[in-house]
Amino acid sequence: STAPASWDKPLAGKVAVVTGAARGIGATIAEVFARDGATVIVADIPAAGEALSETANKVGATALALDVTAPDAADKLAEFATERFGGIDIVVHNAGITRDKLLANMDEGRWNSVINVNLAAPHRITEGLVAKGALKEGGRVIDVSSIAGIAGNRGQTNYGASKAGVIGMVNAEAPKLAEKGITINAVAPGFIETAMTAAVPLPTREAGRLMSSLLQGGQTVDVAETIAYFASPASNAVSGNIVRVCGQSLI
Ligand code: NAI
Repeated sequence: STAPASWDKPLAGKVAVVTGAARGIGATIAEVFARDGATVIVADIPAAGEALSETANKVGATALALDVTAPDAADKLAEFATERFGGIDIVVHNAGITRDKLLANMDEGRWNSVINVNLAAPHRITEGLVAKGALKEGGRVIDVSSIAGIAGNRGQTNYGASKAGVIGMVNAEAPKLAEKGITINAVAPGFIETAMTAAVPLPTREAGRLMSSLLQGGQTVDVAETIAYFASPASNAVSGNIVRVCGQSLI
C-alpha cells in the first residue's frame, strides 16, 4: 500500500501515558507526544508534585500523581484515563531509579527497590491495564531498558538485572499482546544527559559518555524520538524489538 501523504500529528486522537514524566527523558517524551498530537497524561510520584505540574503545564498534558510500585497503580491509572479520556492507546513505562553499590554491599533494600520500580511495576501495570480493557485494541506498550541491561555496568547489579529483565519481559509479552492487537517494544538508551546521570561521579560520567560510538552523552530527545516511532502508525508492524539509542556501545 501507499505511504501516507504526511506525518503531521501522527498521534492525533491518541491518549498516551508516560510514567516518571516530571523531568528527564519522561518529560521530553511527553513533549514529543504532545507535538505529535496526542492527549498526554504525565505521571510521577507524589513527591515530584511541583515539577510534575510544571511539566504538565509546559507541554499541555494532564498530571497524575502515581507511584508505579503502588499495588493499585494500574487500577488508578485505568480509572483516571478511562473517566477523563475514554481509555489509553499508548503507555510508556519510563519511571526508573538507580541505587548503585558494588556487589559486596548490594543489600536487599537496594536490590528490591530497583527491581520493583524498573521491572515489576511495568509488568504489573501492563497486565492490569490489559485485564481491565483500559489499553485499547491497537495499543502500544513501550518499555525503557538500558545499555546497562545488555553490557552490564560496575556497581549496577540491581539496575542491570532490572533492565535485562525488561528485555526478557518485552520478548515474552509480545506474542500475548499481539492477540489483542497491541505492540510492545523497548528502547535501551546509552548514557543520556539527565539528572540521573548528573548524580554519578565525574569519572564514571566521562566513562559513560565514551561507552558510545558517538563519544558523547545522548540527549533526552534522542530517546523520545525513538519512542515516538514506536508510538506512531509508522511502526504498526513492529513488535518485540529492542532498539539501542546513543550510538553503538563500545563495550
Ligand atoms: P530521572 O531520574 O531524571 O527521571 C526519572 C523519573 O522517574 C523522576 O521524575 C522520578 O521521580 C520518577 N520515578 C521514580 N520512581 C518512581 C515511581 N515509583 N513511580 C513513578 N515515578 C517514579 O531519570 P532519566 O535519566 O530521565 O531516566 C528515565 C528512564 O530512562 C529510567 O527508566 C532510566 O532507568 C532510563 N535510562 C536512563 C539512562 C540515562 O543515561 N539517563 C540510560 C538508560 C536508561
